[in-house]
Amino acid sequence: MAANIIDGKAFAATVREKVAGHVARLKADNDITPGLAVVLVGEDPASQVYVRSKGKQTVEVGMNSFEHKLDSGTSEADLLALIDTLNNDPAVHGILVQLPLPKHLNEDLVINSIAPSKDVDGFHISNVGLLGTGQKSMVPCTPLGCLMMLRDYHGSLSGMNAVVIGRSNIVGKPMAQLLLGDSCTVTIAHSRTKDLPEVVGRADIVIAAVGRPEMVPGEWIKEGATVIDVGINRIDAPEKGEGKTRLVGDVDFASAAGRAGAITPVPGGVGPMTIACLLANTVTAACRANGLEEPEGLTA
Ligand code: GUN
Repeated sequence: MAANIIDGKAFAATVREKVAGHVARLKADNDITPGLAVVLVGEDPASQVYVRSKGKQTVEVGMNSFEHKLDSGTSEADLLALIDTLNNDPAVHGILVQLPLPKHLNEDLVINSIAPSKDVDGFHISNVGLLGTGQKSMVPCTPLGCLMMLRDYHGSLSGMNAVVIGRSNIVGKPMAQLLLGDSCTVTIAHSRTKDLPEVVGRADIVIAAVGRPEMVPGEWIKEGATVIDVGINRIDAPEKGEGKTRLVGDVDFASAAGRAGAITPVPGGVGPMTIACLLANTVTAACRANGLEEPEGLTA
């Protein structure tokens, strides 16, 4: 049986449409334009692409985009001073500091200097604690996007066995918390997990977030399971010509699609949902900052 393809690109477009609708209402009814500040330190090419894309999509949904590009030698004191200014700027509802930061900057210190209410990445220790205790928080964008797609496909996730492969602070751990919040039975697997094929084989939902190209073969997947592939790995593609590359996930799509009930492709699955959820978090932050009702369906 061929799996249903969960189209993250199309789903992300519907999320952006919802966000744009809320932004238009906030402007018309409350004279509020949500604003997102993105801070990029240095010239990492991949980060520059992401930041450009974030700025473009922010403007497309009607929000204000504030880009702060600092050179790679920026001191920690100067970066913290900028964050302090943004924390106190009422036109800024969301702040994102693009990671990774240059080595001389302490990432934890920088992230924890962002006001938790403006931390649209959901990385601040307060938001991590709030999520872990089931309280209202800002939720990391990629796991939020995965949760939205799972809820849309399944309705209720209650009682399902979910296996999250990967224990990163950005994806694995918050993903596990969100699935637990939706009453899944959750296992977090990682590089030291014994008998990973057996663990994955018990899952109704598999979330692969390890960053290793095609490491999960289809034969591990239970028939009919839902597979969410968070990996975005660039590999050589000599079949396309010399020096050519292509993107693959952490799951071997061809074999997994033959066993799964539903699967996200790479590219076009989880990837587009991350920025869509960043926009959703920014509109949520703007509503909360002004004591207004939060948009439905855009938060966990
Ligand atoms: N770098 C790669 N992904 C992310 C993300 O989701 N947030 C931030 N701030 N930096 C990133």
